[in-house]
Amino acid sequence: MPRRRCSLFYLLALLSVANIALALTAWESIHQTIHTYPLAIDSKDFALLSKVFTPDATANYTGDLSNLNGLPAIQTGLAASVATVYSQHLLGTTVIDIHSDRIDANSTTYFQASLFGNPYSIGSVVYLYGFYADTLEKGVEGWRISRRQLVFQGPGFVGNLSLVGG
Ligand SMILES: *[C@@H]1O[C@H](CO)[C@@H](O)[C@H](O)[C@H]1NC(C)=O
Ligand SMILES: *[C@@H]1O[C@H](CO)[C@@H](O)[C@H](O)[C@H]1NC(C)=O
Ligand SMILES: *[C@@H]1O[C@H](CO)[C@@H](O)[C@H](O)[C@H]1NC(C)=O
Repeated sequence: MPRRRCSLFYLLALLSVANIALALTAWESIHQTIHTYPLAIDSKDFALLSKVFTPDATANYTGDLSNLNGLPAIQTGLAASVATVYSQHLLGTTVIDIHSDRIDANSTTYFQASLFGNPYSIGSVVYLYGFYADTLEKGVEGWRISRRQLVFQGPGFVGNLSLVGG
């Protein structure tokens, strides 16, 4: 009898540890959503952006991409922006404010993006510096960005500006 009670205890303990490991906090879920963006754009898997933005999200990446309304427009605009380059988006500093209703939040996430000519040759690279100011909502499928504003920092673009039409 003591042995059985013991193994039941361990089984329950294991189950609760597994549950704790699987259940992400709101902060962690929001972080996952924001940080899925580089995987989508750098692999040119624009369908994956449905795990990042709400269907009716709006985004302002400035310039030609100032006024993207809805996920399809965001997907098309971003696809065009990396059509002739390889990209690497490196996200850094991430600060998230979850509002008291716990179904919306806003965040600031620093980025550095490197765009490489395709094909690459020495000198065919441009670097972008800035942050994303995002508004997020929690829907049935999880946290998604409903509004994104890109803000450039410092000079914004450095390097071979011909790669971004400069
Ligand atoms: C997009 O952002 C730029 C830079 O902050 C701003 O000048 C412009 O008015 C914004 N456009 C829209 C449509 O929000
Ligand atoms: C969230 O939005 C508020 C109001 O605009 C702003 O003061 C705050 O800095 C934002 N938080 C983050 C992490 O960007
Ligand atoms: C800038 O990039 C273009 C496109 O890849 C390339 O043809 C050109 O040689 C580069 N300029 C310099 C100064 O490296």
